[in-house]
Parts: sequence; structure tokens; C-alpha cells
Amino acid sequence: METKKLLQLNETALAAANAADTLDAVEAVRVKYLGRKGLLPEIMKNLKNLPAEERPATGQLINELRGKLTNLIESKKSELAGGAQETVSMSFDYTLPGEWVKHGSKHPINQIIEETARIFAGMGFTVADGPDIETAYHNFDALNTPDDHPSRSPNDTFWLETGELLRTQTSPVQIRVMEQQQPPIRIIAPGRCYRRDTTDATHSANFHQIEGLYVDRRVSLADLKGDISYFATQLMGPGIKVRFRPHFFPFTEPSVEYDFSCHVCGGSGCRVCKNSGWIEISGAGMVDPRVFTRVGYDPESVSGYAFGMGVERIAMIKFGINDIRLLYDNDTRFLEQLA
Ligand code: PHE
Repeated sequence: METKKLLQLNETALAAANAADTLDAVEAVRVKYLGRKGLLPEIMKNLKNLPAEERPATGQLINELRGKLTNLIESKKSELAGGAQETVSMSFDYTLPGEWVKHGSKHPINQIIEETARIFAGMGFTVADGPDIETAYHNFDALNTPDDHPSRSPNDTFWLETGELLRTQTSPVQIRVMEQQQPPIRIIAPGRCYRRDTTDATHSANFHQIEGLYVDRRVSLADLKGDISYFATQLMGPGIKVRFRPHFFPFTEPSVEYDFSCHVCGGSGCRVCKNSGWIEISGAGMVDPRVFTRVGYDPESVSGYAFGMGVERIAMIKFGINDIRLLYDNDTRFLEQLA
């Protein structure tokens, strides 16, 4: 067969394959050109009748055409069968059970932090941040903590060789924010804290706090009580009670500690609240005028409240966990129950 005719055949074959719009039609094109008694094998068979010098070129042309046509027919077939399905269907057993994909979940600590940020955002608070490695100035001095205060002791605080320390509380973020901004200020600051505590069911050397700071004109203790009570109801539900007890902190005056009623027993007494019906959340109070002076605010014209919250404590009562260590073991059997 002459080259010209071969090229013509090439055209018609590819056009026929392209035009085929059903699987049957494609198969018919395949049989006509590539099948055992098809046109191309037929021409191939007759190759030996050609003059010897024409054979290689013609053979090559036929092979090219066969290659192109085969590819086109294959892609046409899988296109008409809906993607790759057709080709895998023979080896794929749809009745086999699928591979089980495990979903991750938010850690309870993060759940409490995010929920707290959401509730305080509704009261106009934004989220602030500070470093885990703090200066003694921010963690103690600026917070009006005397040089001989026991919390500075190496028995309580992880001091670094540089003279810095692992922050023992999130309160230094108060200082960092007030150094940078002028009132009014409304921030919460969640983060890790470190203390040389021996680990037991309610203590850990590494734990989390959420600091809160509200500074403006005429902020009062009533604002603090109202806001914390509102937060508790939002987080725990309407049954929750909050109580405030007088306390002392170097950086607040007056100072309080506050407790939530035990969510596990409803306040009647259980193992989690050690039969008291209450769980201590943390401390709070009115920002001490000396702290304002340190950061260059005028204590005569502004006032503010500050609070800290123990995130693990809140997680324990919200989820009814009786051992703080469960929060750090990363046992997925435990974590997925709180997803
Ligand atoms: N930082 C204090 C603590 O860790 C809690 C606190 C925060 C108290 C803010 C008063 C004001 O115990």
C-alpha cells in the first residue's frame, strides 16, 4: 500500500474513533482497524509483498498509526465509562470493607481556651500573647512582688542560667500589654505556666492559665464579679454558682480567690471537689496602683481588674475528670471521649 493511502487511512481511523460516542461504537472501531481480522493487521501481513527498500518506512508508519489509534480508543473508553472506573473495575471488590480513617479531635485544654476566648470576645476582649521564657522583671518585679517573696525561690520557680525564668503565671502578659498600649484595655491571655510542683492528681509542673485584664475609667470589683459570673454561666450552663473569697496577691488590691460550684456533683460533694462542693479556679482582684505606676499609667485616673484562670481546673470540672494527668497522657481512648 502506498504511503498516501496509509495516511488517508490514518485520518479516517482517528476520525472514526473520535466520533464514536458509545462504548459499543468505540469497540466497533477497534475491531474494524485493530481486531484480528482488522485493516491494520491485514496491511501488516501484506508488508512482505512490498519492495524490500519500502518495507521499513511503511512498517514504521503502520506502527505509529496503531499506537495512536490504540491510545485514542483507550482514553475514549475510559472517558465514556466515567473516568478510570472501567479499567479498575475488574480488580476492585466493592464489597470489601473500607479502611477506617480515624478522626482527630481538639484537646480538652484547647477546647476550654477557644471557648473562653469566644465568650470574652463577646464582651469586647481580644487575645494577647507573651513568651514562656520571661524576665524576672515581668514575672515578679513589675507585678509588685517583693524580692524575698517565696514564689521567687528556686524551689518554686524554674530559673534559667541567663537569669530569666519559665513564667510561673500568665500575669506578666498584663505588664507587656500595658507597656505597649494605653487604656481602655480588654484582653485575655491564654498560655503555659511552669512551677516546681510535684505531680499528683491535681498538680502538674506545667499547666495552663488564662489571664484577663480590663483597664478603663471607673472599673470596679462589681465588674469583675459580674463578668466572671457571666463567663461561668456561659461556659458551664445556668446551674453554675461562683463564690469569691478574700485573698492576697502582690499585684492586686483588694484580691480574691474564686471558686466554681462542682459541676460533677452539682455542689453536693464528690471525689473531684474533695467533698467541698466547690472547685478553686484561681485568683483575681483590682490592679494595684503600684503596677499602674510601673507601666506609666496614672492610678488616679484609671482603674482595672485582673484575673487568672486555671485551665486544667476548668477542664476537670467541665468534663468530670478526676486526675489532671489524664490531660497530658495523650491516650486517644481518653481524648476521643471528650471530642
Ligand atoms: N497570677 C495569679 C496566680 O497564678 C492569679 C491572679 C491573676 C491573681 C490575676 C490576681 C490577678 O495565682
